[in-house]
Amino acid sequence: RWPEKVKIKEVGPRDGLQNEKKIIPSDTKIGWIDSLSETGLSYIEVTSFVNPKWIPQLADSLEVAKGIRRNPGVTYAALVPNLKGLEGALEANMDEIAVFMSTSESHNQKNINKSIQDTYPVLHETVKLALQEGKKVRGYLSTVFGCPYEGRVSMDQVMTVCDRLFEMGIDELSLGDTIGVANPRQVEEVLENCLKNFKGANFALHFHDTRGMALANILKALEMGFDTFDSALGGLGGCPYAPGASGNVATDDLVHMLEKMGIDTGIEQDKLLKAGSFLQQKMHSRLPSHQMAVYNAA
Ligand code: HMG
Ligand code: MG
Repeated sequence: RWPEKVKIKEVGPRDGLQNEKKIIPSDTKIGWIDSLSETGLSYIEVTSFVNPKWIPQLADSLEVAKGIRRNPGVTYAALVPNLKGLEGALEANMDEIAVFMSTSESHNQKNINKSIQDTYPVLHETVKLALQEGKKVRGYLSTVFGCPYEGRVSMDQVMTVCDRLFEMGIDELSLGDTIGVANPRQVEEVLENCLKNFKGANFALHFHDTRGMALANILKALEMGFDTFDSALGGLGGCPYAPGASGNVATDDLVHMLEKMGIDTGIEQDKLLKAGSFLQQKMHSRLPSHQMAVYNAA
């Protein structure tokens, strides 16, 4: 009933940090990513190549992406919105790139300053060039389970945008609960539709834990055979263009749950918690996850 193995994609250095107001020095980011590289994680989203006016925290993307120590067992990825972003990701020799858009018109507009219709050609040319350059491409779809401006998004709309993204040639699509409004029953409904409409396609789930529902939602997806999840160490994160959005599900909480269930993640929890502790010391603040709280209390 449960998958034997689960693939965890660490998005803390990008999704986690992008919402942090206080600018973190590049060498701290590099040190943190280097420690993440030694935990057994097989995938790390290092940064994003977006307009630094929009996301000042990640203005040092090139420096960070070039400065990290590459572990050959890890895929290093970056988020890009367009060709200019791809240029940066290629210059930094990222292994994989991720493009992104929303299912809802208003979040798409607020986040990337374009209508959904105008976003398709931009992503299409970006994916095309990335593939030509031999890079794997991942897609992110935001507001799948609800939009901060429009509420619930119709299933038709979700399926239409999924279809458009797969047509571009992306290898995997990560379904985002941007503001943490999903519940397990809704997850079941969306994923049933994905299974029906996109047989054999690769999906990942990207839950923010704003309402404490992320692990419950992941459990539902696991039961349905999904085995790839995005998370951020310590529960850092949020989308600055989604008011009230809080952190991603915490990698350490997810690893704890899966390993206790006998599901292999390949990740060493003690090393993960040490990487969390490194960041806490540098940021002079505590990370919000349960496992970090246990670690801090010990
Ligand atoms: P725009 O202003 O419409 O862009 O922004 P433009 O094409 O009109 O260009 C305007 C300026 O931006 C120009 O500079 C460009 O060079 C520059 P200027 O001439 O004014 O000096 N520019 C760039 N600079 C650096 N890197 C680039 C780039 N592109 C253009 N790639 C744009 C459009 C998409 C660039 C902007 O809206 C943007 O950067 N948005 C990013 C927003 C963002 O990063 N949001 C968070 C990530 S998404 C997320 O968190 C959700 C996710 O986690 C899943 C989930 O939880 O749901 C993935
Ligand atoms: Mg996110």
